[in-house]
Amino acid sequence: MLHVSLEVTSTSKNNMTTRLPTFRFTKFQIFVHIVALLPLVILIIDALRGNLTYNPIQAATLRTGKTAMILLVASLACTPVNTVFGFTPAIKVRRALGLYAFLYALVHFSIYVGVDYGFDLQLILLELSEKRYVLVGFAAFLILLPLAITSTKGWQRRMKKNWKKLHRWIYAAGILVMFHFIWVQKSDIRQPLIWAGILAVLLILRIPRVRSRAVTFRTSRRAGGKKSAPPKPVEVNEPVVQ
Ligand code: HEM
Repeated sequence: MLHVSLEVTSTSKNNMTTRLPTFRFTKFQIFVHIVALLPLVILIIDALRGNLTYNPIQAATLRTGKTAMILLVASLACTPVNTVFGFTPAIKVRRALGLYAFLYALVHFSIYVGVDYGFDLQLILLELSEKRYVLVGFAAFLILLPLAITSTKGWQRRMKKNWKKLHRWIYAAGILVMFHFIWVQKSDIRQPLIWAGILAVLLILRIPRVRSRAVTFRTSRRAGGKKSAPPKPVEVNEPVVQ
C-alpha cells in the first residue's frame, strides 16, 4: 500500500533536532479527506459567486446540515463495514469522518445562530421552546461538542474507561439528528426516513449478537464454505469519534 508521508523536523535553540509527529496517510485516507472537504469548498465558491439561490442563508444551512448528517452516518458505518466486509481501512477514517461531521454541524449551527438570528439570544431561546426540530438539533450538537473535543489520543488516555462511555453518546446524537431531519421537513419525509433506516441498520449491526453472526458469516464465506476457526472476539461498541 502506498503511504504519503509528511515528516517535519525542527531545530531548537541549542541546535538539537526535534522530530515532530509523523503523519502517514494511505490513498484511501487522502480520498476520504478530499471528499469530506469538497462540500465546504463548493459552498464557499458558490457563496463568493452568489450562486446560493435567492435565499443563500437557507441554502447554506440546508447544505451544511445535510453534509454533517451524511458524514455522521458515514463515521457510524465504519465499524459495521469492517465487521461485515472485513474492510479494515474504514476504521482508519472513522475519527476523521466524525470530526468532519462536527465541523459541518458547527458551520450549520453558526450560520443559524450568527447569520440567521444575529446572535439574538431571546429569539433563539424562543425558537428552541417552540420548534422541536431546533431543540433536538441543539441537543445533538451539544452531544457532538464534547466528543469532538475529547477525540484525541491524549484525552483517550486520560479518560480511560470513561472515554468509551462518553463516546457511546454518538449513537444518541445520530438518532437525534434523524428526528431533526424528519421534523425540519415541511411535507415529504421520504428522504429522512431512508437515512433513518440506514442508521437503524448500522446500529443493529453493533448489537453484539448480530455483530458476531456477521463476523462468522464473513469468515465462513472467506473459507469457501469450509469449516473455519471461530472468529476472534471483536471489540463491541467502539466509539466513532476517537
Ligand atoms: C443547534 C443545532 C442546530 C440548529 C439550530 C439547526 C437548525 C437547522 C435549520 C434552521 C435547518 C433548515 C430548516 C429550513 O430552512 O428548512 C436545519 C436543517 C437540517 N439540519 Fe440542522 N440544526 C442544528 C443541528 C444539526 C446537526 C447537529 C445536524 C447533523 C449532524 C443537522 C442536520 C440537519 C439536516 C440534515 C437538515 C436538513 C437538510 C435538508 O433538508 O436538506 N442539524 N437545521
